[in-house]
Amino acid sequence: MKIIYPGSFDPITLGHLDIVERISKKFDEVYIAILSNYKKQSLFTVDERIKIIEEACKDFNNVKVVAFSGLLVDFAKSIDCKLIARGLREVSDYEKEVQMALMNRALDNDMETLFLVSNAKYSFVSSSIIKEVISFGGDVESFVPEAAYKMLKIKYLNK
Ligand code: PNS
Repeated sequence: MKIIYPGSFDPITLGHLDIVERISKKFDEVYIAILSNYKKQSLFTVDERIKIIEEACKDFNNVKVVAFSGLLVDFAKSIDCKLIARGLREVSDYEKEVQMALMNRALDNDMETLFLVSNAKYSFVSSSIIKEVISFGGDVESFVPEAAYKMLKIKYLNK
């Protein structure tokens, strides 16, 4: 069975990677799907995000990294997938996530969303907080995969 793990991944964090590892054990194929035409201003280009994620996921042999634009349900249909994975960190994620899951099911009645409770170790980690911390000189090495850390250092610290 296939599952899509969609997101902005700007950049992927160890919290995201933990979800990827868990779903890669339970499903035959995992599609990490990066939204490419998002309203949010992104730090990394889609190609940079693909490269980072591919490097971070190189040990998972059933994981594919793809970009999509438009509606998630349309992309899911195009690869014949009916299941979306999303991580839930704090209670504050719940409202937005349930709204998205309900909208996706309203758009396609067969579409299910599987919520995974994030690893407690990373429940406070988000791509935005990582960018904020490193932009003010804080150390984020222990919260992102090595490939993401390398690219963050290039963007923020010119290293
Ligand atoms: O990592 P994010 O930013 O929380 O991911 C949000 C994402 C990309 C999963 C969501 O915005 C999305 O699926 N957008 C595609 C457009 C769409 O289908 N919108 C309607 C359902 S929310």
